This record gives sequence, C-alpha cells and structure tokens, in this order.
Amino acid sequence: MRILDGKKIAAEIRAEVAEEIRRERERGARAPGLAVILAGDNPASQIYVRNKQKACEETGIVSHPFLLPATAREEEIIGLIRTLNERDDIDGILLQLPLPEGVDSRACLLAIDPEKDVDGFHPVNMGKLALGLPCLAPCTPAGVMELLARSDLSVKGKKAVIVGRSDIVGKPLAMLLSRKDADATVTICHSGTPDLAKECASADFLFLAMGKPEAITGDMINDGCVVIDVGINRTPEGLRGDAHFASASEKASAITPVPGGVGPMTIAALMKNAALAWKRRLGSR
Ligand SMILES: NC(=O)c1ccc[n+]([C@@H]2O[C@H](COP(=O)([O-])OP(=O)(O)OC[C@H]3O[C@@H](n4cnc5c(N)ncnc54)[C@H](OP(=O)(O)O)[C@@H]3O)[C@@H](O)[C@H]2O)c1
Repeated sequence: MRILDGKKIAAEIRAEVAEEIRRERERGARAPGLAVILAGDNPASQIYVRNKQKACEETGIVSHPFLLPATAREEEIIGLIRTLNERDDIDGILLQLPLPEGVDSRACLLAIDPEKDVDGFHPVNMGKLALGLPCLAPCTPAGVMELLARSDLSVKGKKAVIVGRSDIVGKPLAMLLSRKDADATVTICHSGTPDLAKECASADFLFLAMGKPEAITGDMINDGCVVIDVGINRTPEGLRGDAHFASASEKASAITPVPGGVGPMTIAALMKNAALAWKRRLGSR
C-alpha cells in the first residue's frame, strides 16, 4: 500500500514554478502579482490564506493581501475586485471563501476578470473546462489530477467514483476525469445516491469530497482501490479526511493522507495558475 505524499509532490511543483518565474524575470519580466482578499475572521480561512502567502513567497509571486472586516458589504468587495481587475501589476485575484453572511459569493466571483480568476471558479473558466478548452482550472481538482500523474497512476479505462458534487471539487473533477486525455468512466455520488456503499465498492479510483469525517470505511472499498481523500474535517481529535484512514488503507493500493495529501496539491495548483495567468498577461502586451 502506498501513501501518496502530496506534501512532497507539491514542493516539487512549487520549485518548478519558482524556476519558471526566475527565468522569465531574468529576461526582464516584472514579478507576478496575486491579490488575496480575505473578508472577516474565519480562523480556517486565515490559515489557508497564510499558507497561500507562504507559497507565494517561495515561488517569487508577490502577494497583495486585502483584509476586510466581517462587516464588509458586497458592493465594497465587488468594488475592490473591479479595481484589481484594472491593475497591471495584479495577475491573479483570489477571493477566499466563505464570505461574510449576507454577501453573495457568486456575484463577487462573477466580478473577477476570468483572465485573473486563478481559483478557476468563474463560469467562463468552468465553461471552458467543460468544453476541454485551455483555461484556469479549479485548483483542487487540478491538484488531484497532477498528484495522480506524478504518482504514475493512470485512470484510463478505470471506474472512477466521486463522492460529492460541489462546484469547486466534485463537478470539475468529474469533467477532468472524463476528458479524452484521462478517459476514466465516472460516477458522481451525492446525498441523493440510494446505495453509496455499493457505488464506492465498484470504484477502481475513489475520490472523496463530502466533508464528513471518516465516513468511508474499509468495508466500503474494493481491494486495490486508489483512494484520493479531498475531505478536510476539523474534529476534536484533529484534522480528519472523509475516509477512515486505518481501515481504508488496509484495502487500498494507494491512499492520500489528511493532512499532507490533497491540501498541499491545491496550493501548488494555485501557484501554477497564478504563474500561467501572469505569463498569458505578459504575452498579451
Ligand atoms: N484538500 C483541499 O484542498 C480541499 C479543497 C476544497 C474542499 N476541501 C474539503 O473537501 C470536502 C468537500 O468540500 P466541498 O466544498 O466540495 O463540500 P460541499 O460543497 O459541502 O459538498 C459536499 C458534497 O458531498 C455530498 N455529500 C455529503 N454527505 C453525503 C453523504 N452522506 N452521502 C453522499 N454524498 C454526500 C453533498 O451532497 P449534496 O450535493 O446532495 O448535498 C455534496 O455534493 C470538505 O471537507 C472540504 O473541507 C478540501
């Protein structure tokens, strides 16, 4: 059984991004700039933003933090986004979710220039993803695909089961796995799925993005299954995935730990998206 070391692979990716940025800068390019908007004082969001800023420092991306109070209104956030859309030194805009109560996150995300949408949540990028066109893909699914590729795990011709259909993980992951260049046969499960255990047991590759700590146990998993656990759940015992790691790892041929699996890959994918948005913008002027 292999434990897929997302932390190590993510560090390799960050080093590659840093090298790419260093080379461009040597040729005279300006530094890439990433605006990070954090509204309110959600402790988990503060940790995520700190980790993203650390990754920016490591790769040579200049992060521009915009810390707004929990009382920030939708018009204020959209106003800030519009200003950032116009700024030449900003290549990516990251809007940390969740936003304060009463703020429509969809309206705020829609205001982001799709060329600067490094989270890949804008409908233009989601639409391009669905059509298989080049785009800024959502970071968690992109990070998962990269983790598989760099671990020499091919989903081609395999049965992939995703538990969770969110706009940021389940749906875009299904699109990536079913693309011609991946060729998995994909099933998406959700709270309306009548027999979740049966679906999980049919998977060669099981992707968990439900947000339910240790909900998927070893008895629900096929022998030799690859388990990619996207879940990050805060419990009194610490961070837990959606898989019950001890029993699932007895059946799986490979599994991602929580923490240290998909989480760091998401941030590495964000750095790749920021560098891509920067290079495209450099090229377009
Ligand atoms: N590693 C990372 O970088 C990263 C990034 C993003 C999210 N996450 C984590 O991933 C998890 C999922 O996040 P999300 O934003 O995608 O969550 P979400 O928006 O809450 O979606 C959860 C999905 O799981 C489904 N679900 C919940 N309970 C279920 C059950 N008992 N049986 C079948 N389906 C069930 C829901 O079904 P319905 O649609 O029917 O409600 C929904 O589609 C969370 O733990 C989150 O913290 C991690």
